[in-house]
Amino acid sequence: MAPLRDLDFFTDPSVSDDPYPWIEQMRASGPVARESHHDAVVVTGFEEAVDIYSRAEDFSNIACVGGPVVPLTFSPQGDDVSEAIAAHRGSFVLSDYFITFDGDDHRAHRNIMMKLLTPKRLKANEVFVRRFAGDLIDALPDPTRCELINDYSQPLATMVIADLLGVPEEDQAELLDKILPAPGTMGADQPHDPFAYFEEAFTAYLHDRRRNPRDDMLTQLANSLLPDGSDPGVPALVRIASFLFIAGQDTSAKLLATGVRLLGENAELQRELRAERAAIPAFFEEVLRYESPTKSDFRLARRTTSVGSVEIKAGTHVMISLAGANRDPRQFSRPEDFDFRRENVRTHLAFGRGPHTCPGATLARVEARIGLELLFDRFADFKVDEAHHGPEGARRYTYLPSYILRGLEALHLRLHP
Ligand code: HEM
Repeated sequence: MAPLRDLDFFTDPSVSDDPYPWIEQMRASGPVARESHHDAVVVTGFEEAVDIYSRAEDFSNIACVGGPVVPLTFSPQGDDVSEAIAAHRGSFVLSDYFITFDGDDHRAHRNIMMKLLTPKRLKANEVFVRRFAGDLIDALPDPTRCELINDYSQPLATMVIADLLGVPEEDQAELLDKILPAPGTMGADQPHDPFAYFEEAFTAYLHDRRRNPRDDMLTQLANSLLPDGSDPGVPALVRIASFLFIAGQDTSAKLLATGVRLLGENAELQRELRAERAAIPAFFEEVLRYESPTKSDFRLARRTTSVGSVEIKAGTHVMISLAGANRDPRQFSRPEDFDFRRENVRTHLAFGRGPHTCPGATLARVEARIGLELLFDRFADFKVDEAHHGPEGARRYTYLPSYILRGLEALHLRLHP
């Protein structure tokens, strides 16, 4: 049998169902090693991942979404490909969105977004999260069973960000209905701009808010300026709004679902956490480490450099395996054990690090905590439904076929009101 590491991480659904054996075989070749299918460098070491995140001058974000699956449209020459990146910028996935920007350009756009996520706004949003989670539970057609992702965690994630932004309720279903396969979906073309269909709706919202200001995030965004005082223009603001709207939905929904799966599998763990609710945040930190919802992140080496002792040529795609770094035994003892009482539980890299570190982390954490608290409040107990997922010891789960995200497609539960 071919070694696992010879399977294609980017296209093989068996690797997506369980990426950890592949990751461990890569790690066996070193914390920074080369995979054979796309000539990418794979980083499974925690320290090495942090090193890359902190060296934005050497590693560009331009290919952070498509990674090596989307071939470069230039052939890298020499030890610095900065000019080629600039000249071919438009050929990269999401090249007009600030997640792929570097340096001052990135800072200027991120700055606009960070000003929107104020503590006051996030606090007000918490009230909404609790109320809407309660409404979703009330609306379950059968209070003794549910499919957690469709019935609860996904609509919760969608509505929470929609409420925060101020997207009218009547438009939300239509916006989500048109979504293309998320970047990273195996077997699908990686669309250059999967969020383009938002353009019309968000352009209309922003023009409307410029004319008729309200007390909402879209109004603040519509009137945002770049640090030099200039107007970034509506198209740039539209892309900030649409990225914010979509960025955290899948990941947040998967975070809650994975936590609930672990508790639905392990009655003792569920009892322990119900008895000590103050430990729920630590529990989700460990879920983020143990099953990182964004399992891979990407960089393009701008200059020839090295990480650890491995030379990386300019123009090389680098995959930061967050799932791998978060299970690096040099950082986390017994990494395969789920232990929310581990001392360094908050040091994981599930939200990235450095200049692009996830600005939605607070929101994701609040959503997961309140989402679980409501399930604890309203149900005396919940279990994984054996009729759908098989008996203990022989469970069947379907995972998203993705080289970027890690998450269940469905989680059926039996509920005890
Ligand atoms: C469990 C949930 C989440 C996970 C695991 C997650 C993960 C990440 C990661 C790893 C990055 C870094 C990307 C990079 O460095 O290339 C990132 C960036 C980002 N995330 Fe999240 N995220 C989550 C939730 C959210 C939410 C709820 C929002 C929106 C409110 C959000 C908005 C963003 C944005 C806008 C960026 C780009 C930041 C930049 O480039 O400066 N995320 N996220």
